[in-house]
Amino acid sequence: MDSRPKLHFTPLQGWMNDPNGLVYVDGFYHLFYQYHPFSTVWGPMHWGHAISRDLIHWTHLPIALEPDELGFIFSGSAVFDKDNTSGFGDGERRPIVAIFTHHNELRECQSIAWSLDYMNFTKHSQNPVIENPGIKDFRDPKVFWYEEGRYWCMVVSAGDRVYFYRSNNLKNWEKTGEFGLGGNYALGVWECPDLFPLETSKGDLKWILVVSMGMSAELGGSRTQYFIGHFNGENFVGLDSFDELKWIDQGPDCYAGNTFNNTLDDKRIFVAWNMNWIYANRVPTDNHRGVMGFPKVLSLVDTPLGLRLSFDFVDALNYIKKRVEVIQRSLEIDVNTFCIEGIADGEFTIRFTNDKEEVLSFGIDRSNRFFVDRRKAGISDFSEYFPNIYYAQRIFTGRSHFKALWDVYTLEILADDGTINMSINAFPSKGYTKIFTEGSITGEFYTFKDI
Ligand code: FRU
Repeated sequence: MDSRPKLHFTPLQGWMNDPNGLVYVDGFYHLFYQYHPFSTVWGPMHWGHAISRDLIHWTHLPIALEPDELGFIFSGSAVFDKDNTSGFGDGERRPIVAIFTHHNELRECQSIAWSLDYMNFTKHSQNPVIENPGIKDFRDPKVFWYEEGRYWCMVVSAGDRVYFYRSNNLKNWEKTGEFGLGGNYALGVWECPDLFPLETSKGDLKWILVVSMGMSAELGGSRTQYFIGHFNGENFVGLDSFDELKWIDQGPDCYAGNTFNNTLDDKRIFVAWNMNWIYANRVPTDNHRGVMGFPKVLSLVDTPLGLRLSFDFVDALNYIKKRVEVIQRSLEIDVNTFCIEGIADGEFTIRFTNDKEEVLSFGIDRSNRFFVDRRKAGISDFSEYFPNIYYAQRIFTGRSHFKALWDVYTLEILADDGTINMSINAFPSKGYTKIFTEGSITGEFYTFKDI
């Protein structure tokens, strides 16, 4: 398959996995990413780099960080050091500081690099800034400014838990705490943590800890969990009873997601890698491999089951969408990037098909579950785990507002106040040309201009 998605970020060529260093500075969103420029399979990791004003149209920039004698450049974050706490500023310009994992066979440790032109990065001469404490997996530092204490905090994964650190200058770090589940409930190595505050509708501040978890293929492979709790600048304490896992995304293709630092009004914008490690190295895309999820704004909503994260596509999508027609039982389509927005009154199914009888379908089933079914959606011989059907139990009953964004080979479904969030890839051998609907739904079909 040679075409790249239009609304979703992909590298021009080569391999991409996790989003890294998400930071907003001077009108631009910076997206760095795990990148192997010389191959379409994972290898020595670099940080690729792109910028955007609207999170839809991206400008590709030169590679920001290359592997060196300390190892590959694994995942991490970036901050805008506006008070020049690091001293890397030059009096006029204030630095972006990247905090990342140096990975080699023997150990993983945390290092930093800075940039004053926001394009060329210099690695700190005294890396690493946090040595390996004697554990195999110690990576993916997320650093953010903790305003209440006026210092930097880091959450970093450490095997089956996360560690917390603090620093005044991004160079000297002191460990302040740990969070795990005493026995690792989800049975996977923890990766790519994130930690940020969100207000409830009643104005209470809660902290959300996001953890990606590499699990066995039988358990779904790459999945991302979140915990709601309190953070006091040193430690996180969960509110949850842990008898129920809360997933960021109930589909199979969402991993290593993180949120932007330094956004206007502290808006929480989440970007994930829309892929699953079980088959990521084998998906049938020609000269690139890897796609980012469409950026989504997070909020906390009250539901009958308690607080839940809610997701919505960033607003910029509304400015480029073009209403084409009302959804009927059957609709011919001639574009590969489109969106459906609708309201379903209970059970329904929407099918995308082509003349090869490949079908990708989603809807609400008899047991009040959202489902998405790619068992016969197209090419799937690259992994026995790919052709499958996925479910998300609804928290609500009755009418469901939903949005489904399809872009060449990646589908994202949001529904029920954003509490249903499912990302899933499918590789039709020829683009889908028809949409069929069943059940009591009304909705509209949109395409996009200027992409
Ligand atoms: C998550 C991950 C990270 C690591 C990176 C390496 O997908 O395994 O833990 O830093 O990918 O590319």
